[in-house]
Amino acid sequence: MNPTEADAWEELARHSKQLPALSELVLDEQRTANLRHTIAGCLFDFSKQHVDANTLRILDRLAAECGLVDRIDALFSGDEVNRSEGRPALHSALRGGAADPTSGKEIAAVRRRMSELSDAVRAGQWRGYTGKPITDIVHIGIGGSHLGPELVVRALDDHKTTHLNVVFLANIDANDLHKALAGKNPETTLFIVASKSFGTLETKVNAMSARSWFIERTNAPQHIDQHFIGITTNLQAASEFGLNPDNLLPMWDWVGGRYSLWSAVGLPIQLALGTDGFNNLLAGACEVDQHLASTPFLSNVPALSALLATWNYNFLGAGSLAVLSYDERLTLLPEYLQQLEMESNGKSVDVDGNAVNYHTMPILWGGTGTRGQHAYHQLLHQGTQAFAADFIVVREDERGLKEHHDWLLANALGQSKAMAEGFSAEDEPYRDVAGNHPTTTVVLDELGPRQLGALLAVYEHKVFCQGSIWNINSFDQWGVELGKNLAIPIYEQLASNGHASDLEHRNDPATQGLIDYLRSD
Ligand code: F6P
Repeated sequence: MNPTEADAWEELARHSKQLPALSELVLDEQRTANLRHTIAGCLFDFSKQHVDANTLRILDRLAAECGLVDRIDALFSGDEVNRSEGRPALHSALRGGAADPTSGKEIAAVRRRMSELSDAVRAGQWRGYTGKPITDIVHIGIGGSHLGPELVVRALDDHKTTHLNVVFLANIDANDLHKALAGKNPETTLFIVASKSFGTLETKVNAMSARSWFIERTNAPQHIDQHFIGITTNLQAASEFGLNPDNLLPMWDWVGGRYSLWSAVGLPIQLALGTDGFNNLLAGACEVDQHLASTPFLSNVPALSALLATWNYNFLGAGSLAVLSYDERLTLLPEYLQQLEMESNGKSVDVDGNAVNYHTMPILWGGTGTRGQHAYHQLLHQGTQAFAADFIVVREDERGLKEHHDWLLANALGQSKAMAEGFSAEDEPYRDVAGNHPTTTVVLDELGPRQLGALLAVYEHKVFCQGSIWNINSFDQWGVELGKNLAIPIYEQLASNGHASDLEHRNDPATQGLIDYLRSD
């Protein structure tokens, strides 16, 4: 249903005008205890959200009126929740959190193959064409076929149990290619080409360049098989590209790209962490699947996150979500979440194709604390726009440098306190800080596979619950197509080395002017 037609929606609008300031609300100790929930070694503390008991009660009613229980049921039962593409979204099945749509056959078989493959490479049994063990993995893929694996491999570097060096190549920019291949020895490098569709421009061009790089240096095209692995639903396109069918790991239509790190797309994670580490990541996510399916909404972390986000964006006017990770190992988290949240819920029609009359996902951005405090936090504290923020911290001092760690944590807490309470300097208005900004603080006991798997699954399910309340399809991404298609004739002109082309007439003068400038000597 259109959520604005729910009684609770109207009540929330009225309630938003009567709610006391967040600076007052945070003083209530009872409220703090009620707004903290722990799952899989991660504490989600919502006590700095701008809500009182009444807000939560009405949000719970909103969830009921929007049929969230049925939506979650539909997700886990394998209904076609991705209606515009006629597919279920069963990524939870990859980690044991939903029934296996392949009836225990394909998922288990792919997992076995992944384990065999990663064990062989890690143990030095998979050899390059001159008989040397593999030393470097270059993972080629973009969007959902890249962001999750790189985030996890970087974040869990301390849990790496291999000598293998794992790097990622995503951008079509030759500088990314140059960086990924710098210093690599083709005799000991293994390329993974990950693309659900096997039709994505960046991945195809990068994979072709990687193949040429290999052949130019080895003069051994017949040995490609020892150096290229593919992961895709489109096995035929991958074979046509020249990948050996024995080296292909399948994916399925029912796994969305940005939800695919739990599938064979997670192979670089398994190569870095080993099978146990990868399994622990899946287990952490599975705990969240079970929690989503069985917990009342006001203590259900993903559902409550979604309800609070709805409150923040649709009623308190928050125009962005800042993800502030107070841990260098999670530097890529905002970028990963940008795809997860914005590609999923950046929509302006509902599931029936009607234009929505309410805001959906705002801009998600972010960075790493404390760096951000010396950059954009000025705007957060004294700018003119409302925002919400998620602070992510790790409790354990895993480097054994207590002074650093305590300062890091103190800064995270100090920032969220300032955002909640604000500050008023009587005669010096330039020092005033408005406060009243809603934030969530997530505390991971330690940054391990279980905790990270749970954290990512919480965001995945938050996105789904949020999309359900907004009545939009969180699993398609039609908006990315137009720009991709427009690039094709422009490429043809740029590549035509300055010769006039009929295609020029199709361009608007502004675009044509830039093409001409770019093609000029
Ligand atoms: O352009 C958007 C997108 O389709 C994402 O949804 C996806 O994760 C990415 O491109 C890569 O797609 P593929 O895995 O098919 O190469």
